[in-house]
Parts: sequence; C-alpha cells; structure tokens
Amino acid sequence: MSTSDNNRVVIFDTTLRDGEQSPGASMNLDEKIRIAMVLEEMGVDVIEAGFPIASDGDFEAVNEIAKIVKNSTVCGLARATKMDIERCAEAIKPAERKRIHTFISTSPLHMKYKLQMDPEKVFEKVKESVAFARTFTDDVEWSAEDGTRTEHDFLCRCVEAAIKAGATTINIPDTVGYTMPHEYSALFNMLFERVPNADKAIFSVHCHNDLGLGVANSLAAVSAGARQVECTINGLGERAGNAALEEVVMALKTRQDLMPFQTNIVTQDIMKASRLVSTVTGFTVQPNKAIVGKNAFAHESGIHQDGMLKNAETYEIMTPESVGLTESKLVLGKHSGRHAFKEKLKDLGYDIGENAIEVAFKGFKDLADKKKDVFDEDIMALVDDQVLRGNDRLQLVSLEILCGTKHQPPKSELEMSIDGEIKSCTSTGDGPVDAAFNAIKTLFPHEAHLQLYQVHAVTHGTDAQAEVTVRLEENGRTVNGQAADTDTMVASTKAYITALNKLLVKREKTAPSALSA
Ligand code: KIV
Ligand code: ZN
Repeated sequence: MSTSDNNRVVIFDTTLRDGEQSPGASMNLDEKIRIAMVLEEMGVDVIEAGFPIASDGDFEAVNEIAKIVKNSTVCGLARATKMDIERCAEAIKPAERKRIHTFISTSPLHMKYKLQMDPEKVFEKVKESVAFARTFTDDVEWSAEDGTRTEHDFLCRCVEAAIKAGATTINIPDTVGYTMPHEYSALFNMLFERVPNADKAIFSVHCHNDLGLGVANSLAAVSAGARQVECTINGLGERAGNAALEEVVMALKTRQDLMPFQTNIVTQDIMKASRLVSTVTGFTVQPNKAIVGKNAFAHESGIHQDGMLKNAETYEIMTPESVGLTESKLVLGKHSGRHAFKEKLKDLGYDIGENAIEVAFKGFKDLADKKKDVFDEDIMALVDDQVLRGNDRLQLVSLEILCGTKHQPPKSELEMSIDGEIKSCTSTGDGPVDAAFNAIKTLFPHEAHLQLYQVHAVTHGTDAQAEVTVRLEENGRTVNGQAADTDTMVASTKAYITALNKLLVKREKTAPSALSA
C-alpha cells in the first residue's frame, strides 16, 4: 500500500471485527473468508479480520484470512497486554502484509471506571504495548479508545509516545459516537499542531454512529488531515453501527470538488459486498439507506421521473452503475446450460469453486422449473443462500406443509440433516409457519426465542422468491438467519435453520464444550 501520496485515503474495513461485535451479527469461518475475499477484490487497503484473543474461532478466522488474502493488509486487534499482542501476532503471521492494532482507553471516564488505572499507568502501557507489537511487525496501529472524550494534554502525550515507540498509524476513535464534525476536525488540527512527531504517522478516524454522524465526522477528519478511515460495509457495528464504507467512499468520489482525495476502492463492487454482508449477517439493509438501499436510486414521483428522462443528472448525483447496481435483467431460462450459468456467475462477480458452481447450478435448474422469469437478483439470492450454507451442521432436507381451510390445524412434515444424520418428524401449529418451526424444535430441541420473522419479495410478481429473516435470542445472544425460496414456507424454514446454525457458532465461541443442543 502506498501512502506517500498525500491525497490518498487508506480504507480500513472492520466489518469482520467491529461489525461482527454487533448483537446478532455472528459469522462463521467460511462466511468471514468470503467477505474478506470480496473486500480484497474491491481494493480495501486494510482488513481488520478479528480480535484473535477473544476466542479460538476469532483466532482461526484471522489466521485463515491471513493465509488467503494477498493484496490487502490483514490486521488483528489486541488490547495493551503481552498475551493479546502475542496471540494477534501469531494469528496474522502467514499474511504477506500484516498489522497489529493495539488499543487502550485514554478518557478519564474509561481509565477510572473501565480500566481502573491511573493515567501514568495507561501512559506506560501505551509505550510498552506499541514497542512490543513492533517486535512482530513494522506495521503497528495504536488507538486511543474513547479518544474524543480524552483530555487534550494527555491525548497529545500518548500519541507522541506511541509514535516514538513505533506506531505507524494513530487512530483517534469516537468510540461512543459523541463528537460533531467541527469538533472532530478541530481535535485533529490540535493534534497536528501540538504533537511534535505527528508527521511520522498516518492519522486515522474510527467513528460510531450513535448520533447519525459517523460518516460526517469521518469526512471532517479527512478534511483536517486524517488519511485513514475505519468503516464497515452497510455501517454494521455495535449499537447504531460504524461509519459506512460505501458512504465514505462515494462521498469522496462524488465531491472531488470539495474533497480531492483518492481511495483504492473499486466502487462497482459495493453492491456485491453490501448484499453479501446482509445475507451473511441476516441484517437487511433499510430501503432508504444511502448508496446501497433498494430505493437509493429509485425515482417515484412524476416530477423526478420527468427530469430523469430529460437528463439523469437532474436528480442523480452518481450513477447506479458506479456502485455496481445494474438493471434487473432477465437471465437464463430453464434450458440454459452450465456454461451460460458459469458466465452469468462471473458477470455477477461470483468467484466460486467448481463444487459450489455445481450446487448452485442444480439450485438454478430447480428454480427455473418453478419460476418463469429468473432475474439477476434471484441468482444472487440463490448462490448466497446455497453456497454460504454448504457446511452448516443443520440442513433442511425436505418439507411438506398441509394448511388452508380444509387442513386444520396446519401440519408440517420435516426432514433435517443434523451433523450428517437424517431425522424426520410431523408437527402441528397455529399456522403453517408455526407448524414448520415446531417441527424444527422437535428435531433439534433448543431454548432460543423467536424475536423477529420478516418476509420480503426478492423481485416483483407473485412467483417472486420470498426472502425471509428470522431472529433468535438465547441467553442474551441474538442471531439472524436469512434464506430465499419461491416457496415462502421453505424460505421460512431455511431461515430458521440458518439462525440456529449461527447460534451454534455463537455457542462454540463462548463455550467450546456446549456444541450439542
Ligand atoms: O470504537 C472503538 O474505540 C474501537 C477501538 C477498539 C478502535 O473499536
Ligand atoms: Zn469501534
């Protein structure tokens, strides 16, 4: 990564670390690897792949990503302790470009109540942790957690010491999403003025979105001289989330007149990354979300449509194509062959192995038998669904539902594969969905509570695939499962099973012995 160009903004994606910390957004190893590959392909400079000390699963994910990713720097997070830093160094070891990101809180509130350390102790830790991290890699980032609520004198001392100890990137997070654009840019100006060795490091921003200002604050800091932005796809992240990568990047690209900065991002890959993160986490993107929402480029009112027809620039400040949104296209029919299907996958940006293509092709043939018109969106929903779910412990084998006015109560017959063993049962319920979910509970007993059941149509028409989201909660842990099928009951059952699989991943993370239900 070249950062010698002073107008180059480094994009640091933390979807797999800070994003995954979002309640319900757990991802398994395969899903993390797929996201990392898409991030690399879209030109993300630094991928924060996880927090290796947090769990064996996190360690493995960072380690595997470090083996696979070649063009982006792979970064792991570590607190200011030797154990954390050693574990992080071990996880990122295989990476061609590796970074250790170490952090400690510097605000009076955090030091007193969270760390229970006095400022001098924290100051010592800053120096020790950065110097120790430097023994493993030349690329060390130091973060002042709760930086925006830190006293300026102390922040300056810590930043200067971190740079002296070898930090090459200094991150000033707005951990609680509290700052305002003018205050944040003033903070950076203050640091550039007062820290004598500030020119020896790249300054970075990391903004949470509690007041809806994550992106605005990030851009304000870039205007003041920050040259790394930490962000997540779809703004995923704890509480109200982090600054959204797609918004930061497209704002910079669209307003070159005011912000003449470059990023390395292939913006045409944005939709693909957004869809993948949404499918994997089960966090649907709100329709009016900037850049990646379903309505972001839709023009409904007559006046707008009229203007658009005369000249698209009347109401469009960027093109849908620039973020990878192509018009809904009719794709292959049921007579289309494997070769055409492979070409379509390539067009849609899927780089999946032969086995996965075979699975997807079979799914496509089944879909084309059921659905007259198959659109790009259908193919994407199908591939995301089938390919991502291939290694899950719980899988749907078959489902039959009897319902309607003549069949009361509704009855379901379900076959599931549980760790490779096929089990079946019959259940009833208050409605068909209830009957299907009761059958899952019979075959795989669990205590999780259903918190959300939501159905969307992937495309238009009564033969559209239904995309279902199911949210489950167990002992304070929430997970989302998403699935698509032309049959709403099948999609619902798959979404529930996906959520259960995610719950198993969560359980593994906290207690490796709690693998069985
Ligand atoms: O929000 C925050 O302060 C963080 C740090 C670990 C960088 O995520
Ligand atoms: Zn954060």
